[in-house]
Amino acid sequence: MKVRRVRTYVPGLDEILYGGIPERNVVLLSGGPGTGKSILAKQFLYNGLTKDDEAGVFVALEEHPVSVLRSFAHFGWDITRFEKEGKFAIIDAFTSGIGSTAQREKYVVKDVDNVGELVDVLRQAIKDTSAKRVAIDSVSTLYLSKPAAARNVVMMLKRVIAGLGCTAVFVSQTSVGERGFGGPGVEHAVDGIVRLDLDEIDGTLYRSIIVWKMRDSKISMVRHPMDITDNGIVVQWDKYLRITPHSAEIKPLPKEEVEAVKKAIEEETKETGEQEKEEEEE
Ligand SMILES: Nc1ncnc2c1ncn2[C@@H]1O[C@H](COP(=O)(O)OP(=O)(O)OP(=O)(O)O)[C@@H](O)[C@H]1O
Ligand SMILES: [Mg+2]
Repeated sequence: MKVRRVRTYVPGLDEILYGGIPERNVVLLSGGPGTGKSILAKQFLYNGLTKDDEAGVFVALEEHPVSVLRSFAHFGWDITRFEKEGKFAIIDAFTSGIGSTAQREKYVVKDVDNVGELVDVLRQAIKDTSAKRVAIDSVSTLYLSKPAAARNVVMMLKRVIAGLGCTAVFVSQTSVGERGFGGPGVEHAVDGIVRLDLDEIDGTLYRSIIVWKMRDSKISMVRHPMDITDNGIVVQWDKYLRITPHSAEIKPLPKEEVEAVKKAIEEETKETGEQEKEEEEE
């Protein structure tokens, strides 16, 4: 059976996923500080709204909801328009309900150590907005003080999100130089892992992205160069980054692979078109 995919519309990312994220997958977006995780999570939601008319929910655990909105605006993404239309919601799991912002907010989680409360608020926000996409920034915050609970926390969130038909990205924070993605409990519980990296080679920083796993999908098996621009993240899907302790080389992907990717994207575009036509006819 052909899997339905959710397209991120992040330039180059759907290509290295051979068409997009399989529907209802929960993807761990893992990486060190400043690697672009939060930007990518926002871009995934914003593109869903503008390109596919899919509503979204953003769970803010790391940043004040006001600064989340500012960060959308920084890239020219007018998210407040969708918030007003009821197609986008921010869940404030940052202020603990303290302060004037929280008083005006509809979705507030007072105690982040209580996953049950977060799950209830999230379920309500998904239902109210009819969301198809969810981003949690970051899940690491939920189990920082209790690593043993990590798997359980992720499974609880995954059940409600996938159960309501949503596809999600969970931001996972790792430290510089750490090889893992956020701990074994989490890494096996999620359906996909996308890792963002920042490597310093002889005084220069290089950004890159690699897909480590994606259930029900073929994936690119190389590390791709990635840029953060004024319009958001751009993945160089037709190139790969070869890093050694003293060199970084950007090389073109073999021709056959470029063709395979192009074909996958073409098929995905064709199929989306056909699905839409069917839905219109119904
Ligand atoms: N317009 C822009 N052009 C280029 N780079 C930018 C632009 N805006 C932001 N950045 C870069 O993006 C980086 C931050 O990305 P982001 O906030 O997504 O990181 P993160 O992975 O979420 O980090 P953390 O784990 O610390 O939250 C910054 O270091 C900044 O340099
Ligand atoms: Mg961040």
